[in-house]
Amino acid sequence: MRKPMSHVAIVSTSATLRERWSDGLGECSRNDPAASNSCKFSFVSVDSAARALQLAVEDGLLQAVIIDAVTITDAEELIVSLKAARAELDLFIAVEHGQADTFAAHSVELLDRNDDNMNQLFRQVQSAIAHRASTPFADTLRDYVYSAKDAWHTPGHSGGDSLRDSPWVADFHQMMGEHIFNTDLSVSVQVLDSLLEPHSVIQEAQDLAAEAFGARETFYVTNGTSTANKVIIQHLLGAGGKMIVDQACHKSIHHAAILFGVEPIYLQASLKAEYGFYGPVPKARIFTAIDANPDAGLLVLTSCTYDGFYYDLKPIIDYAHQRGIKVLIDEAWYAHGRFHPELRPNALECGADYVTQSTHKMLSAFSQASMIHVADPDFNEHRFREDLNMHTSTSPQYAMIASLDVARKQMSMEGYSQLQRCIDIAQRLRSGINKTGVFRVLELEDMLPCELADDGVRLDPSKLSVDISASGMSARELQLALFESYGVQVEKVTHNTLSVLVTLGSTESKVLRLLNAFQKLAAKASRTSETVRRNVPPLPKLSAFHILPRDAYFGKAVEIALVAEQHGLNEAVVGAVSADLVVPYPPGIPVLIPGQEISESIASFLLNLYHSKNGTEIHGLVERGDSALLRVVER
Ligand SMILES: Cc1ncc(COP(=O)(O)O)c(C=O)c1O
Repeated sequence: MRKPMSHVAIVSTSATLRERWSDGLGECSRNDPAASNSCKFSFVSVDSAARALQLAVEDGLLQAVIIDAVTITDAEELIVSLKAARAELDLFIAVEHGQADTFAAHSVELLDRNDDNMNQLFRQVQSAIAHRASTPFADTLRDYVYSAKDAWHTPGHSGGDSLRDSPWVADFHQMMGEHIFNTDLSVSVQVLDSLLEPHSVIQEAQDLAAEAFGARETFYVTNGTSTANKVIIQHLLGAGGKMIVDQACHKSIHHAAILFGVEPIYLQASLKAEYGFYGPVPKARIFTAIDANPDAGLLVLTSCTYDGFYYDLKPIIDYAHQRGIKVLIDEAWYAHGRFHPELRPNALECGADYVTQSTHKMLSAFSQASMIHVADPDFNEHRFREDLNMHTSTSPQYAMIASLDVARKQMSMEGYSQLQRCIDIAQRLRSGINKTGVFRVLELEDMLPCELADDGVRLDPSKLSVDISASGMSARELQLALFESYGVQVEKVTHNTLSVLVTLGSTESKVLRLLNAFQKLAAKASRTSETVRRNVPPLPKLSAFHILPRDAYFGKAVEIALVAEQHGLNEAVVGAVSADLVVPYPPGIPVLIPGQEISESIASFLLNLYHSKNGTEIHGLVERGDSALLRVVER
């Protein structure tokens, strides 16, 4: 494995000091007895704050900056700008007597400018970088595996021994690889700490994650953000209460309302019917709901959405806080937001109390690996731990925990440069796809519903929505053609778009193949080119709520047919109250929530969707024989 390189900048207008430090530190690093364990170092000197900032933006290998507070007169400003560009950088301030207090409010390490002990300075820099680069859980797991202990404990496959020599299942062992099995351990192995009551290596890993993501505390979740959302809603509203929530939120939020008897105040999401996207909720609508519900305990918003929209969160969170309402932001799709200035500020930086992130969606963790970040000043850790443990298996996957540790390290050490690469790839994909003349990557202006024009909503550049309507093919046909003829699997489709997700795992060869596929498909399309008409009915508006989701879901219900004779709508459905969550997939956003009145437009939407046979699944629709039934509250 290649040894990583760390660049360290020395910022001073004094040429003598710059030379003394870069020569001295360089020599220390060459003579470092621990060099074989760590990264390589290179010391770069710059003579102004502006150049230091430029270096931070241009040099992805930069890990630490040493600022001479005597000659760099705007050192405080530089600290703030460096942190805004690269939150992860380790900053050192070399001060003289009486200067230390100036920097007390900043998260920096102080150095004595007149101290000539270069070894000491080198060790301080080295140890700060090594701290961020450490993976306490993943290292302990690796060491345990290599210590080759005999297993007389769960899991029953015992490090893979139950499969390895079996004539029937050894092939599975071989395909998965030995480490899938020998890292699959249990809480019996005490050196690996306990996810449910962490005190050692898991706690240390979570503390490092809190530092990296800018949280007060971070908790690992091994059942995805679906569970993380439920944990937080249980924690804040477990005994009931009001929650103001985006109608187009993930279904786990609706599930939490059912589980905990929460009264949801639904915010109608904006809609871009032309492309089948739900957008964010207009700011004014959120403020009105907050004003009308001063007794609400929680505001929940999704930022960014599946399609990449993210809110200008600060004014919204401030507004909720001024009225005593806690804020949960679902950042399932935005775990990378902290690590590149083009993507910041993220929810924690805007003041959210709780943030959930699917580390597995955009970063390098295994599926189901998520994090909860907490910044709530009234946080009750003991109660939270109980709430979290109610949803946590007592047999969590250790490889998943290790992957959270490693994903955090990666973002802390190379997140900035990796994301810069992703942004560049996204840009090249954009122009390459647009060049086909048939397919077009949508811009924010194309995607944003008009009512959000002045809300400061932005678009995550890593999520590309491609308009395929000029191709003469449906999105499903195109998805299939990409898969079968070009070996490309995309993220999702709507009736006339397909979404491509650029992640840290996107490579140049994948870019090449994707662009080649679009070019070839465009060449075919141009012969038949005609705009595909939509065969999906427009998404309907939200209707009234009559009963708490929990009461509707668990109360008495009957099943009634959606379809009447001659394929028409069964009028009995209209005005009934849904007992289930009914979710067309894609886009995976409910059109009916338990307790919601089934309006004529929602019923017709479902009927048309059901008849359209365009491949959209309708979760929550009971299909029995030839009948499509809806479960509704008994009158
Ligand atoms: C907005 C949002 N929140 C939460 C989730 C659930 O995340 P996970 O798959 O980690 O359970 C998803 C999943 O797609 C999502 O889109």
